[in-house]
Amino acid sequence: MVTARLTLDPHFAVGAINRRIFGSFVEHLGRCVYDGIYEPGHPTADAEGFRGDVIDLVKELGTTTIRYPGGNFVSGFKWEDSVGPREDRPRRLDLAWHSTETNEIGLHEFSSWLTKVDSELMLAINLGTRGVEEALDLVEYTNIRSGSTLSDLRIANGQVDPFGVTMWCLGNEMDGPWQLGHRSAEDYGKIASQTAKALRQLDERLELVVCGSSSAQMPTFGSWERTVLQHTYEDVDYISCHAYYEERGGDLTSFLASGVNMDHFIESVVATADSVKAELRSSKQINISFDEWNVWYIERYQTVDRITDVEEWPVAPRLLEDVYSVADAVVFGSLLISLLKHADRVQSASLAQLVNVIAPIMTEPGGDSWRQTTFFPFSVTSRLARGTVLEVKLDSDTHDTKDYGTVATVDAVATFDAETGTAAVFLVNRSETEEATVTIDVAGLGALGILEASTLADADVYAANTLADQNRVGLTPNTSASLVDGVVTITLPAVSWSAVSLG
Ligand code: AHR
Repeated sequence: MVTARLTLDPHFAVGAINRRIFGSFVEHLGRCVYDGIYEPGHPTADAEGFRGDVIDLVKELGTTTIRYPGGNFVSGFKWEDSVGPREDRPRRLDLAWHSTETNEIGLHEFSSWLTKVDSELMLAINLGTRGVEEALDLVEYTNIRSGSTLSDLRIANGQVDPFGVTMWCLGNEMDGPWQLGHRSAEDYGKIASQTAKALRQLDERLELVVCGSSSAQMPTFGSWERTVLQHTYEDVDYISCHAYYEERGGDLTSFLASGVNMDHFIESVVATADSVKAELRSSKQINISFDEWNVWYIERYQTVDRITDVEEWPVAPRLLEDVYSVADAVVFGSLLISLLKHADRVQSASLAQLVNVIAPIMTEPGGDSWRQTTFFPFSVTSRLARGTVLEVKLDSDTHDTKDYGTVATVDAVATFDAETGTAAVFLVNRSETEEATVTIDVAGLGALGILEASTLADADVYAANTLADQNRVGLTPNTSASLVDGVVTITLPAVSWSAVSLG
């Protein structure tokens, strides 16, 4: 039996939760947009062709900010293609995913969809094949009220009020050799700085994200962040982090501890940003936009899905349609715990991606939509994590892993909303074989009762929800949870993710 203890006290706060931490990501990739959020002719489609069943699921998931339109896609994207009369929009080859982009859905349509799912638009700029001028054009089009050629064009295209986009990514994964327009840190740092300065001349309200490394495994990780921030420190607000995890070589033990790697990743980027701050004698703080994170079986994409034939440029092919297991969802839940633990510096995050493509929501053309296992930790955390993240003073048993050394078997984070007096605790048990008994001292929060306690676990850790069996895996009430004399006691099954709310 594994044991762990934690203590919740409102005086020990990590930081306020920025709701943008519950962001997601929609890329023009595979069936994320077409056949995903948009399918005219589907029985639930609205007048604009958006699937009503998907809108309902996205609202239930609880996303806040959605990054768009890529990803690798954005580095070859001409935004002008995606606005204006649909019949005039060009069909383009998307080199990133070897597909054809019809541009049927563009900025106006996507923005309209976002109002239906109550989420904010976060746009990425193409700094791969394009530069400062095209970035300026796009911001003029989206954010200037009227009286200039591009703002008036937006009005003529049907959008009278500016889109008012605040969050902007200065390119995507520019450190990656696969990226169109891939650059060295020096070259990218210069163009990112020039672009940021120019955009701020146009609209000083913008919040700008400069590209960090596309993963902590990149050979340039660390030095990339340092050099890029040396060029852009005073020009930007955030540096991006991207991380994908998968079970490799049957090593479930290491996979379950992926959150340890994410903790280390975040802390390394914070340390690098703060050292540039010291070097530049700056008083400004750079925060993190963790704008791509998830479990992703990348090798499957490389070996099975990837399209390379020069004759083959399909529209919305089935790409990156990973089916997530219980173990995947437990890791996923632990990644959310890691993000929240660093709420003082992680001010924005985007679950990559939203529908069909490495996604919590799946759809069939003309047919059903369903929740993958990963849907549940996200929806519950987004709903319950409110107010401030608390330091939980975790004391857990440990075990050894091949990839990450000795790790805490139980990981946890807690949040407290002083306005409503409610608290929430999110926990993961990484043991493959043993239950964990966790005691949580909540006396410091005043008189509380347990409002809900639920767990995601299964005797088969590889069980998944599929088209044929859409509700195989879900949350179950955790009836072991009790609160006596200011102490919550809960039993966590092996390989499980749980949430407890108190109020
Ligand atoms: O999310 C899938 C891809 O992963 C994105 O397009 C890219 O930015 C990253 O490499």
